Amino acid sequence: MKSVASAPAKIILFGEHFVVHGTKAILAAIDKRVKVTSSFTDDKTIKVNSQLGTLEVPMSSSHEEVKSEFRPFVYLANKMINSHQDVNGLEITINSDIPIGVGLGSSSACCVAAAASICELCFAGANELELILDLAIEAEQTIFPDTSGADCTVCTYGGIIEHPSIEKIDNTFDLNLVIANSMIPHNTKNSVEKVNKFKENDEKRFSELCDLENGLIGEVIMAMKNNNSTALGLKMSENQKYLEEIQVSNDTLRDMISSLSEISLGSKITGAGDGGCIIALINDENMDKVPALLPNDKEYFSAKLDTKGVVWKIEK
Ligand code: PMV
Repeated sequence: MKSVASAPAKIILFGEHFVVHGTKAILAAIDKRVKVTSSFTDDKTIKVNSQLGTLEVPMSSSHEEVKSEFRPFVYLANKMINSHQDVNGLEITINSDIPIGVGLGSSSACCVAAAASICELCFAGANELELILDLAIEAEQTIFPDTSGADCTVCTYGGIIEHPSIEKIDNTFDLNLVIANSMIPHNTKNSVEKVNKFKENDEKRFSELCDLENGLIGEVIMAMKNNNSTALGLKMSENQKYLEEIQVSNDTLRDMISSLSEISLGSKITGAGDGGCIIALINDENMDKVPALLPNDKEYFSAKLDTKGVVWKIEK
């Protein structure tokens, strides 16, 4: 018996970094997925197979003893093994089409899909979204203790959501979002620590920026409800100014944003910054101009919204 679950990648439309300090954020799940398959074994081990390599450790091993990329899976396996007496071993296999380390929520999606897959294997029929989300956030905290939980939330529920309310925002117009990858890998933990330092050095300005971000998000929700893509684009560019000010941008990201500026309604970093991806809102008639404007060494794709969120099933 195999338990198979999949979860979508995500983009942060508004509010990255500030969300770690309690502001609202708007996120969207997109049409790239990670699939996690789990099954019982008799090997008395926890085995994890992924593009990052293979891990096999005795069932008694703690997540703290393994390399960081495997920690969430060993944490989840332990948690389930401890509450399910009959398990003699667990094998977890991860197949992902989400690029790693570029701000598209690869690790959160893995945590969500793994939580759903392992939970369904051990407690068939008891899975529910709230439980999956709690487990996924706990698993992600094994590698990134300060996570806002926003990424795992949108990977669980799908669609466009406001965080932390988890209210869905209906997009009645097509969001033509281009995601362009700077091809510079980033480290979320380091970028978040950098922003913490900015806050320590200038509490007053940081608090003003948090207020601006919250205000902006209120306006964004209005713009989306009114199908006003021009206003939405302008607000993305406004958000980018705040991200520039907290110093999570760099010349490469700025160049990419400015290359697309003649055709985009607005653009910004998505995710932790210091590398990773930018998103640009682009009218349909300009989509074919994107390749000529971006440098050849950058990858890009057009993002479609995922409305399903995490899904799971048992395969006999
Ligand atoms: O770049 P990513 O996908 O790791 O996104 C990080 C988003 C932050 O707001 C910087 C951190 C968080 O936990 O929300």
